[in-house]
Amino acid sequence: MDSKSPLRQTKSGESMMAVRNSNETPTRKVQLLDVEEIPEGKAKRVEIEGSRIAVTRINGEIYAVGDMCTHANYALSEGPVDTEELTIECWKHGAQFCLKTGEAISLPATRPIMAYQLEIIQTSVFIHLPEKGSA
Ligand code: FES
Repeated sequence: MDSKSPLRQTKSGESMMAVRNSNETPTRKVQLLDVEEIPEGKAKRVEIEGSRIAVTRINGEIYAVGDMCTHANYALSEGPVDTEELTIECWKHGAQFCLKTGEAISLPATRPIMAYQLEIIQTSVFIHLPEKGSA
């Protein structure tokens, strides 16, 4: 593992990804996918516990965001991922969202999507889902 890898080794030998987008919302950790199941440079839709999530891998880093465009509820996982700008684009009208923060960075969408905190343990990706009733 090189020093630029987002994965870190814990004392117990587990590989863990640095926490992104942490906030004060209580969450629970749920197993999402195996790292190898996540496509490089394009999005995959995953439905877990009633949440639709778009997951992608870019240069080994994994991102998970809400799959529904905030403009008109079309699936973002069906649109392109920009691996340079780290954005996902809605195929319907072209709104772009930041994969790191969920921020809407181009019109016609103005409201953000959820950007999920992830952990990788060994080869498994875990997602921190908001506790029901806390979002
Ligand atoms: S539905 Fe996504 S930009 Fe309009």
